Amino acid sequence: EDAKLIVLEQNPTLQQATKIKIREAVANRGRRVKVSGWVHRLRTQGKDMKFVILRDGSGYLQYNHELSADYWEVIHKAPGGDDAFTNKLNAEADPSVLYEQRHLVIRGESSSSVLRVRSQIMKAFREYFDSRGFTEVNPPCMVQTQVEGGGTLFDFNYYGEKAYLSQSSQLYLETCLPSLGDVYSCSESYRAEKSHTRRHLSEYSHLEAEMAFITFDELLNTIEELVCGTVDRVLSHGPTRDLVYQLVPDFKPPQRPFMRLDYKDAIKYLKEHDIKKEDGTFYEFGDDIPEAPERAMTDKIGCPILLCRFPVEIKSFYMKRCSDDPRVTESVDMLMPGVGEIVGGSMRISDLDELLAGYKREGINPEPYYWYTDQRKYGSTEHGGFGLGVERFIAWMLHRDTVKECCLYPRFMGRCLP
Ligand code: 4AD
Repeated sequence: EDAKLIVLEQNPTLQQATKIKIREAVANRGRRVKVSGWVHRLRTQGKDMKFVILRDGSGYLQYNHELSADYWEVIHKAPGGDDAFTNKLNAEADPSVLYEQRHLVIRGESSSSVLRVRSQIMKAFREYFDSRGFTEVNPPCMVQTQVEGGGTLFDFNYYGEKAYLSQSSQLYLETCLPSLGDVYSCSESYRAEKSHTRRHLSEYSHLEAEMAFITFDELLNTIEELVCGTVDRVLSHGPTRDLVYQLVPDFKPPQRPFMRLDYKDAIKYLKEHDIKKEDGTFYEFGDDIPEAPERAMTDKIGCPILLCRFPVEIKSFYMKRCSDDPRVTESVDMLMPGVGEIVGGSMRISDLDELLAGYKREGINPEPYYWYTDQRKYGSTEHGGFGLGVERFIAWMLHRDTVKECCLYPRFMGRCLP
């Protein structure tokens, strides 16, 4: 009941009180304090007893201990009646109410806990890369090249020229290698996804890394280390650990090493487990494995999977072919139970002619990619990297039903407000 905004304040006639945040309350037991916050819940007992749970963003007061107030003041009242806070969130009639009223929903305990854990996850990602000497860069989001196919590009008018919202910072990260060495970025990526699923957003936070002089195996190890290192870091922070276990009482950190499964063996697995296409036929080598069968397989296997070596035709123009089988690429998707794909990565083509053939195969005009192509002219090296969908990582770790609950204000087809 977020009905009233209250400040519990010292009576000016009494001795001075120390202004504290609620998180500091335990350390200040027995002292006169001044606490300001919002009424989280209000319970009235009898004629003149009221119990207030107060929140100030740093914690909740009266969950673990009590404040006896000798002076309090209301600084702003929220409306009651039809317009009351609780009436605004009645999602039974229409679940989209929760997205329309997201600015109020985030005041709730579980939504705010997810956002709080998210903040620590972001910090842990950065700490991981910092501890390994990566440099963070901030590539632009307004671009004139595609990375992951024309089908999901948002375009807009850029001073009379056609431009796009970035699908991935990867190409820019690659250009940083000869300058800065290993790099990472966390930018917003944009995908004009024309369907509603539990794991697709139109705008998402994309954590990407790129490394020079590595092998495909080293790339796989880095992904595994990032995921496990981040979980460990998040759980080593006491207050965040508590939130994680409140949200997911049976959370278990993933075990290393992750299962490595080649695409061709995944096709075999789908056959052996009778997982078929919608038309009743089996998936064959060369088919894209869509979300539903991928999820079915991942949930059956029940542990993280590094799905490797996808066919050239179903992957992007920049992916390096395997030397022992040129039909497939040094590519990987990390699949997690409950969500499916969370990470996509690969080794990149380092040879100029091979890259030009890649553009051609995908029908891409190489002209605006001159700067990307130049990497294969001026000191080309083997290199590779990956992108991790932050909301998908959170949906996996905190067992959320949809990525829409894992960001502040989700953007998806049909919603760009609030
Ligand atoms: O697999 P994707 O498309 O790979 C790339 O963009 C590479 N260029 C990244 C790289 O190598 N630097 O996307 C990477 C990840 C996916 O695994 C998924 O977690 C997330 O981005 N992702 C989305 N998350 C939410 N909504 C969407 N519409 C997403 N599309 C991709």
